[in-house]
Amino acid sequence: MKKHIVLLPGDGIGPEVIHSAKKVLEVIAEQYEHQFCFSSHDIGGVAIDRHGSPLPDETVKACEKADAILLGAVGGPKWDQLPSQLRPEKGLLGIRKKLGLFANLRPVKGYPNVMSASPLKDHVVAGSDLLIVRELTGGLYFGQPSERRDNGQTVVDTLQYSRSEIERIVEKAFQSARLRRKHLTSVDKANVLESSKLWREVVEEKKVDYPDVVLEHMLVDAAAMKLITNPSHFDVIVTENMFGDILSDEASVLTGSLGMLPSASLRSDGVGLYEPVHGSAPDIAGKGIANPIATILSAALMLRHSFGLEEEAYAIEKAVQEVLKDGYHTADLHVENGKQVRTKEITHHVMDCLSPQSATNSIMSCYA
Ligand code: IPM
Ligand code: MN
Repeated sequence: MKKHIVLLPGDGIGPEVIHSAKKVLEVIAEQYEHQFCFSSHDIGGVAIDRHGSPLPDETVKACEKADAILLGAVGGPKWDQLPSQLRPEKGLLGIRKKLGLFANLRPVKGYPNVMSASPLKDHVVAGSDLLIVRELTGGLYFGQPSERRDNGQTVVDTLQYSRSEIERIVEKAFQSARLRRKHLTSVDKANVLESSKLWREVVEEKKVDYPDVVLEHMLVDAAAMKLITNPSHFDVIVTENMFGDILSDEASVLTGSLGMLPSASLRSDGVGLYEPVHGSAPDIAGKGIANPIATILSAALMLRHSFGLEEEAYAIEKAVQEVLKDGYHTADLHVENGKQVRTKEITHHVMDCLSPQSATNSIMSCYA
């Protein structure tokens, strides 16, 4: 299989974790005889510095032509003072919107050895395995341009959803539930928000098409609590953009670190952008200690969802599991009796699990 993958390393630890995921994809290409061609483009803060825009046209064009996109992270204190239209985050929101990537899948799975790194009790996190389906191109993130009124003393952000925007994400969630344990929790704030009332109506309408899926509605505040008191209650959660953003960071606590969570942002035809859920972590950027696992697992999601390469995707996930089982982890995880290693080392352990031969070669080239 020949595929063209656009890399958007971005800011902070973005380039380091993208480098790791690319190495892993190269091992997969060699082992399974695929041809992955990579090209790298600017987004976020680096794009502001080099091109004066967080999302240069050239980057959009490259993404439009790509078979799939792998993104690192955007943002950092350097660009914090810029007006909101020019901030690095606008690059990420812009590419999600331009490509119509409305369905954000965030699987949250605890790995046995690493769960001890969670501040939650072992019996609470045990067995947690859920999928957050976050709507990604609507809601508060994309309201009418936010404005300041009354001489800057009042602010306005709008939360807008159309029926069709809700329908397509809810369908995606029901379909995802069908492939898992067939339990769907729709999270909203229907006791207060008009948009949530429409959301609930649409979910109720759609459920007749999925009689095999057990559906429940849950208010977002209750869901936030249940997520860390009884996470194994959940299978698939579907929710709007902002709630999904907040709940997915919260859910990462189950896995011990935000550095473990991958994500896929998809549209209906399979085109996708894949990125770790974590941010650019400017405090540790360039130190070689970032956790690349979320990005490596995002590359696995790319193989599965955009290329249909289930066996290869599973091989990566299994390799990550092996490495964690062997006790290797990066500094963000506080694993009892674990072996703390750096970004490069943990990457090579993953490569090694996939193919001992390629890893040895690349260790030599990496450390040369
Ligand atoms: C995420 C991030 C982004 C978001 C930011 C960087 C704009 O937090 O992917 O979860 O809020 O969607
Ligand atoms: Mn977030």
